[in-house]
Amino acid sequence: MSKVIEVKNLTKSFGNFTALDKVNLNVNKGEVHGFIGPNGAGKSTTIRVLLGMLKADSGQVKVFDQDAWKQSVDIHRRIAYVPGDANLWPNLTGGQTIDLLLKMHGGPVNQTRLDDLIQRFELDPTKKSRTYSKGNRQKVVLIAAFAADVDFYILDEPTSGLDPLMERLFQELVFEAKENGKSVLLSSHILSEVERLCDSVSIIRKGQIIESGTLDELRHLTRSKLTIQTEMPVPGLAQLEGIHDLVEMDDNHYQMQIESQRLNAIMQHLSDFNLVKLESQPPTLEDLLLHHYENPQGGQ
Ligand SMILES: Nc1ncnc2c1ncn2[C@@H]1O[C@H](COP(=O)(O)OP(=O)(O)OP(=O)(O)O)[C@@H](O)[C@H]1O
Ligand SMILES: [Mg+2]
Repeated sequence: MSKVIEVKNLTKSFGNFTALDKVNLNVNKGEVHGFIGPNGAGKSTTIRVLLGMLKADSGQVKVFDQDAWKQSVDIHRRIAYVPGDANLWPNLTGGQTIDLLLKMHGGPVNQTRLDDLIQRFELDPTKKSRTYSKGNRQKVVLIAAFAADVDFYILDEPTSGLDPLMERLFQELVFEAKENGKSVLLSSHILSEVERLCDSVSIIRKGQIIESGTLDELRHLTRSKLTIQTEMPVPGLAQLEGIHDLVEMDDNHYQMQIESQRLNAIMQHLSDFNLVKLESQPPTLEDLLLHHYENPQGGQ
């Protein structure tokens, strides 16, 4: 599978503070990859290195198999970047700003596509940028990004300030981009957004990637919530390996957290007591993240 991003052992310090410590990050062609982690973890720094705005101290940083620092001009023709805190030229109108941002990619502008996006985002492009609200400034950069015919979208908290309707439109546009074979790197604190949009994720914490894989793979590392009812009481359930936080209720109802890799053994055990009801909830991305943030070593 060809890669749009290949980062190996990327290290970057500011003075004697190590912001990125041997970061590995891969995004495959056609994939939407979530990039998540707490504030100050190193997401924007990694993205700035990918964009050739910051030079790595060491490691390999390739975008489309090209060196992110040395070949950034070539790379920029094929990517669109959306920062979460867009600083626009205050005296240009939204429309002029979009035109300028699009010119930076070279290539012809698809006016029909552009007009359609302006309409869908309900942006008045005739207003000066300095008069725009935070959400409207964000719309300007999103319109310019999605109007550009590029292969790869690098989005760093792109929906900050958008209302729920616009957030939904953003999600539609990411799906459309994916359907058209484009690739996306999406850094976000909105976990529902990441869960809905991303094929795979990387989790960064204190400058180190602590987990990377598809959502299913990551969920596998943690616990599911299980609610069951049996015909007969199940003695010694709390002692069974892989069961945590057991709550016993009336009528042989039990609630517990189970380790995913013990699921089969636990089910076999429970079936001896005639299961009559079973509800399982996979861990949400939020469960997973909190688990990681609270346990720096990962693990159960
Ligand atoms: N130019 C800089 N000079 C010094 N320190 C910096 C610089 N840029 C970033 N840092 C530090 O590097 C660390 C990582 O910052 P970064 O902006 O990459 O975090 P982030 O993951 O994007 O966080 P957030 O979710 O808040 O956007 C932080 O501790 C930050 O203070
Ligand atoms: Mg950031």
